Amino acid sequence: MEREHWGTRIGLILALAGNAVGLGNFLRFPVQAAGNGGGAFMIPYFIALVLVGIPLMWTELAMGRFGGNRGHGTMPGIFQLLWRHPAAKYFGVIGLLLPITIFIYYIVVESWTLGFSFFSLIGRYNGATTQDAMGGFLHGFQGIARNEYFNGIYWGYAFFIMTAAINYVVLRRGIRGGIEKLANIGMPLLIIMAVVLVVRVLTLGTPDPSKPDQSVINGLGFIWNPDLGALRNPKVWLAAAGQIFFTLSVGFGAIQAYASYLKKDDDVALSGIATASTNEFCEVICGGTIAIPIACAFFGVAATQAIAQGGAFNLAFQSMPIVFQHLPLGNIFGFMWFFLLFIAGVTSSVALTLPAVTFFMDELGWTRERAVNVITMFTFAASNLVIFFLAQGFMDELDFWAGTFGVVLLALIEIVVFFWVFGKDNAWEEITRGAEIRVPAVYRFIMKYVTPLFLIAILATWAKSDMIKVLKMEAVLPADRPFVWGARVLMLVTLAGFAILVAVASRRGGLSKERNAL
Ligand code: PHE
Repeated sequence: MEREHWGTRIGLILALAGNAVGLGNFLRFPVQAAGNGGGAFMIPYFIALVLVGIPLMWTELAMGRFGGNRGHGTMPGIFQLLWRHPAAKYFGVIGLLLPITIFIYYIVVESWTLGFSFFSLIGRYNGATTQDAMGGFLHGFQGIARNEYFNGIYWGYAFFIMTAAINYVVLRRGIRGGIEKLANIGMPLLIIMAVVLVVRVLTLGTPDPSKPDQSVINGLGFIWNPDLGALRNPKVWLAAAGQIFFTLSVGFGAIQAYASYLKKDDDVALSGIATASTNEFCEVICGGTIAIPIACAFFGVAATQAIAQGGAFNLAFQSMPIVFQHLPLGNIFGFMWFFLLFIAGVTSSVALTLPAVTFFMDELGWTRERAVNVITMFTFAASNLVIFFLAQGFMDELDFWAGTFGVVLLALIEIVVFFWVFGKDNAWEEITRGAEIRVPAVYRFIMKYVTPLFLIAILATWAKSDMIKVLKMEAVLPADRPFVWGARVLMLVTLAGFAILVAVASRRGGLSKERNAL
């Protein structure tokens, strides 16, 4: 069966941008920046972008194109090609496990954004104008509480099914007819809605003249004024590097799957920069201007600080709807905010599933239909655990292991395999072949030495600071939430099952035949 390819150049760039621009840009970023030194956060953030983010973007695009042209679009196959060792493919299993783990909870949040965009349009949360009331609405919707707004999880579940169905349809249609088409329509729409919201926020001024402190300017000051003292705290550096991984989708194995549908001499260098720039525009300019400053304008800086400490979901689903109720045409702006999140979400969640789909097609010779059906059934079941154990901090746990820890580990393995095992010159040739820009020569040095050292430093800092706390989930779970062993074990068994399946498939399928041929 011939491998599918992207239809157009612009379609590819929009699809890659759709992959990168996600909930991370609009929800995770503002909360991370506000909580880690404000403007000062941007210093480690940009350092990590230049020394780790962009190198990994190029590395992953080049690896993916290399593997795809040899029939292997995902990490087990790519590692085996680059590093001819029988164990290589098993390291690659991480590159399938991470995106699937993120997907399992990501799609749940995505379904909330779909639900809330609908509720905004029909005005269903109108009247819930305090944090407590809106919190009740959110928890009712999530099935955590029963109250005057919801008497069960039915609505929440219905939106979850719809979201899963939308993801399913896009994946079933494949690269060109599914993912690329979605990005061609979704990304321009997303940028328009983001810009409209940014303009709305910037023109708000001081909504309540009797409270001159509560203004957009003070809100921008709150998120952007640098607290330079924060730079001495290693946690701030970890948070900045972590945000770069998450937002660019690097370190997961997800970029490779997209790149595996490139042709042999298609550019990767310029595509990588275009993707990173679009992502940074949506993150720093749009993500940094919308939620936090508008919350400051309506609730004041101190209250916003408390809201941001309560996490991204508090800000997005609890506080923003209150703000919209104070704005003229608030229902429309509310719809735009949540629908923007939804589009950002779908164009990323399909990217989180594509590695698994590509793997089963490449290595076991499954049809797209079969691969998508099987993966959807598996993730659907696993997401149910997240939905029903939400109050036990399940989501935070998955996010930590895959999104914070796993990515750094996989990134380190990738860079070492590409630049040290496969070799610096081969790697450089792969990155620059067909390039439509000249990749600065210093990146040869950066990618071989600086990027891996940076990654090792991150892992070492962790091991030193809060490894033990993290293992006990103290650093992740809020103090008032009980840790449920049963829930952790259940999810671990599910994920381990997936990893074993993939490992067995790597051993049995196309990869084993190839090993003899190598
Ligand atoms: N980059 C996405 C975001 O910012 C998350 C993501 C990670 C998507 C990995 C795909 C792969 O939300």
